[in-house]
Amino acid sequence: MTKLIGISGSLRKASFNKSLLNAALPLAPEGVTFTTGTIEGIPLYNADVEKEGVPDAVQVLKDQIAAADGVILFTPEYNNSMPGVFKNAIDWVSSSMTGAPNVFAGRAFAIAGTSPGPFGTLLSQNAWLSVLRTLGADLWSGKRLMLPKAGSLFDKDGQLVDADAQARLKAFVEAFADYVARKTA
Ligand SMILES: Cc1cc2nc3c(=O)[nH]c(=O)nc-3n(C[C@H](O)[C@H](O)[C@H](O)COP(=O)(O)O)c2cc1C
Repeated sequence: MTKLIGISGSLRKASFNKSLLNAALPLAPEGVTFTTGTIEGIPLYNADVEKEGVPDAVQVLKDQIAAADGVILFTPEYNNSMPGVFKNAIDWVSSSMTGAPNVFAGRAFAIAGTSPGPFGTLLSQNAWLSVLRTLGADLWSGKRLMLPKAGSLFDKDGQLVDADAQARLKAFVEAFADYVARKTA
């Protein structure tokens, strides 16, 4: 069984990226489990805090990534880059200060995102490239998923109602799942 997890980089309850992740979960093909990891509860990175012990929320996310064959980052865009809260969470998980293994190295990662603006997180996704390269992740670039005009894609309950976006999301999830399944076969 191939295991995927998706992580939303927004803490907002009505987050478009959280909604996109929720819409993606049922689209995993047969033989693939797709669950969520969360950045909620992760404190600001502080090496002094880390010396005292890795916070529970960080350890949970780290374990979830370590148990997954593939990870999709659903990233918002802030000021043409990734949100600080998302980068902060990945910084925590990546820290090797405690001698923990690098859970990014060689693991398949994909990036997706949606924003109300016209570019659909293009620059945020670009900003993630150098981070994932630095961490030695296996960055999948078989497809891109940048969904603009997020405000018109979801209904008031956060359901993805735009047919084109739904089709693109499905194609993206299926192609990444196929890549990960072949890689781990
Ligand atoms: C500080 C800040 C900066 C932002 N900068 C951008 C930006 O550069 N590009 C963009 O498309 N949207 C930008 N936005 C709008 C976000 O895309 C929007 O708030 C979006 O809903 C955030 O994602 P979420 O719905 O998943 O929380 C910004 C929002 C904030 C709060």
